[in-house]
Amino acid sequence: MATKTATAAFAALAFAATPAAAADAYHWVQYVPGGLEGRAVTEAGSCPAATLGGAPAAMQVRAAPGEGYPVLVCALPIPAGTAAAAIDGVPLRLPAADPQRILVLADTGCRMKGAKAQACNDITQWPFRAVAAAAATLKPDLVIHLGDYHYRETACPAGNLGCAGSPYGDNWAVWRADVFSPAEPLLLAAPWVMVRGNHEECDRGGKGWSRTLDPRPFDPAQPCIPGNADPYTVALPGLTLGVLDVATMEEDAVQPAQADAARRHMRQVGGALDGKPGWLLLHRPIWSAEEMKRGQPIGANQTLAAAASNGGMPDGVTTLFSGHHHTFQVLNYDPAANLPPQVVAGHGGDYADEGVPDDPAGLSILGVRVASGMNQHGYGFLMLTRGADGWAATSHDVRGNPVRTCTIGVRMVTCGPQRTSG
Ligand SMILES: [Fe+2]
Repeated sequence: MATKTATAAFAALAFAATPAAAADAYHWVQYVPGGLEGRAVTEAGSCPAATLGGAPAAMQVRAAPGEGYPVLVCALPIPAGTAAAAIDGVPLRLPAADPQRILVLADTGCRMKGAKAQACNDITQWPFRAVAAAAATLKPDLVIHLGDYHYRETACPAGNLGCAGSPYGDNWAVWRADVFSPAEPLLLAAPWVMVRGNHEECDRGGKGWSRTLDPRPFDPAQPCIPGNADPYTVALPGLTLGVLDVATMEEDAVQPAQADAARRHMRQVGGALDGKPGWLLLHRPIWSAEEMKRGQPIGANQTLAAAASNGGMPDGVTTLFSGHHHTFQVLNYDPAANLPPQVVAGHGGDYADEGVPDDPAGLSILGVRVASGMNQHGYGFLMLTRGADGWAATSHDVRGNPVRTCTIGVRMVTCGPQRTSG
């Protein structure tokens, strides 16, 4: 079945030389505030040809080439109801009328920062290319990337063969290596929702974010717009996604101005939900554990907790989806806290966080008690599937094998056991 296919694909990838297009030319479809856009990155001097509904349509220049970015980024607004569209003669995957399969992943790039240098050249050590290939074979209707795309910030240490030859810095070579080249099959598989992570802050990969993936327009006078942009929503049949930019939200102390902004943003999403069910997509989780220190969980976000406490979390939000912590984690909170459960799916490729217990029940995180949940180790992604009774989230490993299935209820996520073989 799919398992054999995915395993064969992984084996092929593991021994392949770094694949690359003859010239850089990538395209994808993503949600933006108020609609949908086709986008393209090209080394050519002009935007690729496009069609909407079979008729020629001109892509507009989103970002002209600039320092570190010798590529053109183009955009094509896709009106609601468009039945077919294409870029460069390749048909685009437009939104399904009633999405049944939503793929979720995050924290996908290859870490290079000072002495921390992941083996970007070894697919077993940095598996995002395999993750994206396996995910694409599962034919999602929608892809949600929960943030942290860009990780190669400083040079590979001399003599380290694991990352030798890798580019670094906020430039196209890194965005191509960390994102566009490995993710290409998945970029073509379905429309995406792009959530901004802290690695897309302006002092990290923010310029590339602003040029390529930021759902807002690019402003050449401001090559990187600082984080915490206004939220927007994506309305699916029976489900609304609230997308928050929490890239710079301070974790270790309450930053009052940021907390005010986050509370306002949550209120905006709540207004858009207007009582309807919705999921909140935010890169940094609020009450979650990245690791343990002297028996206590660390990694919660004090600023977002201040924003969401005491009625800040909209009633309609049934589930929180985040990355940032490099693990797959589900946390249901004490009912007295009146909070939606948190799903963390930050196990897409960067160094894994291994320190949280498999059963996090009983942990107290910023005074909120975890009533039940689970923490699963290992790289991979989630596939959310819609059934008669609602949504289920199945984690898959880097070969695409299913590992564990959780049922997403109303303010409760219930996980089955981990499969013992794959
Ligand atoms: Fe992060």
